[in-house]
Amino acid sequence: MSENKDWLILGIESSCDDTSAAVICGPRVLSNVVANQTLHAEVGGVVPEWASRAHLAKIQPVVQAALDKAQVQAEELDAVAYTLGPGLQGSLHVGASFAKAYAFARGIPAIPVHHMRAHILAHVLEPGPAPAYPFLCLTVSGGHTQLVRVDAHNDMEVLGQTLDDAAGEAFDKVAKLIGLPYPGGPVVDRLSKEGNPEAFAFSRPRMQGYDWSFSGLKTQVLHVLQKEQAKDQAFVQQNQEDICASVQAAILDMLMAPLRQAVQDTGITEVAIAGGVSANSGLRSRLQAAAKEEDWTVHIPPMAHCTDNAAMIAAVGWLDAKEGRRGHLGDAPSPRLPQLKSLAELAAT
Ligand code: KG4
Ligand code: ZN
Repeated sequence: MSENKDWLILGIESSCDDTSAAVICGPRVLSNVVANQTLHAEVGGVVPEWASRAHLAKIQPVVQAALDKAQVQAEELDAVAYTLGPGLQGSLHVGASFAKAYAFARGIPAIPVHHMRAHILAHVLEPGPAPAYPFLCLTVSGGHTQLVRVDAHNDMEVLGQTLDDAAGEAFDKVAKLIGLPYPGGPVVDRLSKEGNPEAFAFSRPRMQGYDWSFSGLKTQVLHVLQKEQAKDQAFVQQNQEDICASVQAAILDMLMAPLRQAVQDTGITEVAIAGGVSANSGLRSRLQAAAKEEDWTVHIPPMAHCTDNAAMIAAVGWLDAKEGRRGHLGDAPSPRLPQLKSLAELAAT
């Protein structure tokens, strides 16, 4: 790295169904290109084999597009950061193999990154401001729901998590039940705005400590639909907005309860949200309300940093590279990486 500029990092994300590449210069995002794989919509969920093949076809053009948009030559890069896991095995392998080969050919480090840690650390990127440590982060995506205490960029502890479905999965499964396309979260969010959140009283089970369980919600919705449809075939069609608003209200109430409890218990009022579900307009409003009413300092990511993107991967690469982390050619992608708790150890390798 030259003295008068920050680290120039290429990030690569391929853990699920988004092929993404980004270039950052320190905390500044120069480009963040995401090619979403629309081919899965027709079956209502991600087909792993299709995802790997689509990543293979897209990765090179997406990386080139990220470099072009950033007006950066490959030779100028200081490191390549890529998602090591968790995620789909085949999809991870495409990104990891590409990143390692790309870095090796240029004699620069290839830094492996934990996807969930990247969702959280997307907050260090501009426009910021970055949260002050320690902060609490509610990380809500299609595969995970976690409440994380973040003491430093490489010191995180999972305080609570879902025992079954993730919050995003709950959105997607309910959406499927009422005939909405995949991914259902954004559509439920949109329809909720036209509906009554109190139309249906779905229960909000509370687990021990800071954990969640979302799988019962889908079953509850299914039972209501079956009962009502037996009386009126057009029930779903006529009540889509109210069903969405009621489901979303239940999910958000459930998400907020352990978060509020953790703020009380730890005294930490610096609070962030991250992951695909942090794009939800209702969740964003709830955080803003808590900032006003409960005096929290809240950090809500820009939309482009909520769902899967490579800028967040590059952000972790930047933070780790600055501390001398280099990565190894033998670092193997893993669908199930250890919990964030052991990430400090992972970061130190
Ligand atoms: O973080 P992400 O892009 O991928 C994973 O790592 O899983 O999260 C995707 C999830 C999907 O379940 C999607 O339905 C949900 O985020 N999602 C939303 C919204 N936008 C995306 N859920 C609720 N409201 C939204 N606006
Ligand atoms: Zn994600």
